[in-house]
Amino acid sequence: MYPRNPMDTTKLCPVCDDTGWKTIGEGRDRRVTRCDCRRQERTQKLLQQARIPKRYEHCELSNFEMMNGHSQPSLSSAVLAAQRFVAEYPVEKAGLLIIGPIGVGKTHLSVGIVRELVVAKGIPCLFYDYRELLKEIQNSYNASVAVTEMQVLRPIFDTEVLVLDELGAVKPTEWVWDTVSHILNTRYNDERTTLITTNFKDLPPSKTDLDDGERARAFRASREETLGDRIGERMRSRLHEMCKVVRMDGEDFRTTRRSATISEMSQHTPGFKVTVSRGAKPPESDKEP
Ligand SMILES: Nc1ncnc2c1ncn2[C@@H]1O[C@H](COP(=O)(O)OP(=O)(O)O)[C@@H](O)[C@H]1O
Ligand SMILES: [Mg+2]
Ligand SMILES: [Zn+2]
Repeated sequence: MYPRNPMDTTKLCPVCDDTGWKTIGEGRDRRVTRCDCRRQERTQKLLQQARIPKRYEHCELSNFEMMNGHSQPSLSSAVLAAQRFVAEYPVEKAGLLIIGPIGVGKTHLSVGIVRELVVAKGIPCLFYDYRELLKEIQNSYNASVAVTEMQVLRPIFDTEVLVLDELGAVKPTEWVWDTVSHILNTRYNDERTTLITTNFKDLPPSKTDLDDGERARAFRASREETLGDRIGERMRSRLHEMCKVVRMDGEDFRTTRRSATISEMSQHTPGFKVTVSRGAKPPESDKEP
């Protein structure tokens, strides 16, 4: 919004006449302070820069439900941990490692934290999906692309708080391991805060005495992969130095919510059926008066 066109004489803020400063207090306590209009501008700018995906724009700590189907103690403690994290930041700078199955609200919670840090504390944050980030870095090697690897990585290294969503979601290769250790080690050395979400179990890689032959591959394929498998054991233990662990359990919110809605509708809507055939006659109440 600022700087404004000098020809434009309409004032936007009646409190500060668009100077950005306002006087508060009386008599000897009178002093000048930043006007809220500038604070709101800064908040908007920080929210834009945080790169919260459109799909998650609605996510706040205040609209995170702790009942998911049945009561879920892990969800209430996760929200408490998130609120405590926001309250204590930046005195306490350890990040969070949020672990749990798909759909329990890990991304929702991490976006809620970002929003709260921005709005309440004016902290610059950056949200990145792990797959998206690795894709952007890889893409920067492409000769026809104008950005360099460092241009992609610089904000990842520098942002005060980074969310790395779905850590481990990319098939691990030597390059993936190197890249993730470069990012995590740099942020660790610079004492910056990182919030991580992951669907993988927080366990070491599977030890197998089998060599890398057919049988070893078959063995690995037969068991669930762990975070250790996906990012390497050294990075998994580095994460534990950087973050407090938050475990979330429960059903996929989207499926429990859908079935809850359907059962609610069938309770409250006479004649409601889950299977509605096309062109079915609408119930009486739907007709125009
Ligand atoms: N406890 C919850 N309260 C409110 N919305 C939730 C909750 N858990 C999940 N959701 C919603 O369900 C969808 C999936 O959640 P998401 O955070 O993507 O799960 P995850 O990251 O664990 O896979 C999102 O739209 C999210 O806002
Ligand atoms: Mg997620
Ligand atoms: Zn103002």
